[in-house]
Amino acid sequence: MPAWVIVGSQWGDEGKGKIVDMLSASADMVVRYQGGANAGHTVVIEGEQTILHQIPSGILHPGVVCVIGNGVVIDPRSLLDEITMLEEKGIEVEGRLFISQNAHLIMPYHHMLDQVHDKSLGDKKIGTTGRGIGPAYVDKVARCGIRIVDLLERDLLTQKLMRNIEEKNALLQHIYGEPKLDAEVIVSEYIQFDEKIDRYIRDTSVLVNRALDEGKTVLMEGAQGTHLDVDHGTYPYVTSSNPVAANACIGTGIGPTRIDGVLGIVKAYTTRVGAGPFPTELDEESSEHVRQLGAEFGATTGRPRRCGWFDAVVANHSVRVNGLTAWAVTKLDVLDTLDELKICTAYQVGPEKNKESMPSSLSVLESVDPLYESMPGWQESTSDCRTWDDLPEKARSYLNRISELTGVPIALVGVGSGRKQLVIGVDERAGWVAETALAARKKQGE
Ligand code: GDP
Ligand code: IMO
Ligand code: MG
Repeated sequence: MPAWVIVGSQWGDEGKGKIVDMLSASADMVVRYQGGANAGHTVVIEGEQTILHQIPSGILHPGVVCVIGNGVVIDPRSLLDEITMLEEKGIEVEGRLFISQNAHLIMPYHHMLDQVHDKSLGDKKIGTTGRGIGPAYVDKVARCGIRIVDLLERDLLTQKLMRNIEEKNALLQHIYGEPKLDAEVIVSEYIQFDEKIDRYIRDTSVLVNRALDEGKTVLMEGAQGTHLDVDHGTYPYVTSSNPVAANACIGTGIGPTRIDGVLGIVKAYTTRVGAGPFPTELDEESSEHVRQLGAEFGATTGRPRRCGWFDAVVANHSVRVNGLTAWAVTKLDVLDTLDELKICTAYQVGPEKNKESMPSSLSVLESVDPLYESMPGWQESTSDCRTWDDLPEKARSYLNRISELTGVPIALVGVGSGRKQLVIGVDERAGWVAETALAARKKQGE
């Protein structure tokens, strides 16, 4: 049975949480492979909203095992808060959540460095989530990171922490003019995490591979989006990990031969939170209109998201670097009231028309001219649609155009934030996803 990667195809917040939750009803395991508490994945069940930052969105289905893979950077404070939040909702976590022993830990100095460094960039700031993600990945690559496994060896943990804190204090004090961190306080706080987190720690590569050997269905849940990828995104306005599908292997400890397909999650329009180029961004008034229609405020920081038209160049870039096999187009319903819709089909870059790749140079990308195609809006509600035939004809044309421009079949279409608000089985070429979603819908008794 399949291992599917579920990946954001724009700049994050495409609705990954909702789609992973929906498909989880037919899955056995859901694994996060990168990022950390910068992610905010929203699931809405019977009107009740749950926002997950580090725990996979499969956790809301009692039978599903959830894994935080080695590629994730874990903030233990926020993880424990998330576990408590779920337990207060009556969701059992222990025995179903497993954390890789190789995952790196986010430390208080990572939070501080993230915030003071971004602030020091002035009008060139990235607009990070301030969750310490960049500095934690820096330490991982610099080979001085603290891993989950280090929590089990107190003396070594203390030694490593003291060394790191000494170095970070020098940076904080002398470069950024910030007060020193108290090493003793941090050491004792992190030693206590061991007692609370120990029960979740495993060699998760073994767990995931065993599940696949046993024919189980495994979903790999990406965080952020392809255009925030440190290699394939709009560098330097990116996150510090690789959200792209290939990293599902590295971030969980499975081989590439085990992946059966890649589902790209894409909004029916585009949003971005934080700074950086955004060719199809609307002017402030129109952006605000779409923001209100789509409730486009960050699930982690609450910041207003910037809004723009659907960009087929962005989508095509994602198709290529992820090897997408199907689309889930989300938030179609947000466009229900608009009388005209635009799709960017290419960028005019000097004399050239660029259809499938993003210019690598920031200054070129910031100056491209998006070329638009206009389509009529359907101007009726889609939120009760559940099948392709239920959708208004103009909405189908809009979706068909997205599929045609990208050469990827659409498996699912989101028509509301609720778990059940999904059109399934749009294109028969999208086989497995639609079958799984239909089985999931049946299990949920609809
Ligand atoms: P993620 O980070 O990719 O999981 O996405 P977020 O949860 O940050 O943002 C997506 C937002 O859109 C959340 O508030 C979801 O509840 C909501 N959402 C997801 N799919 C749909 C949809 O099809 N229609 C509408 N109206 N809202 C949706
Ligand atoms: P989900 O998983 C949207 C953005 C930040 C900033 C840049 C770098 O919910 O889709 P970081 O804190 O990662 O160093 O910030 O990336 N960003 C996201 N934008 N959704 C996310 O996650 C994001 N995670 C990070 O706004 O521009
Ligand atoms: Mg989000």
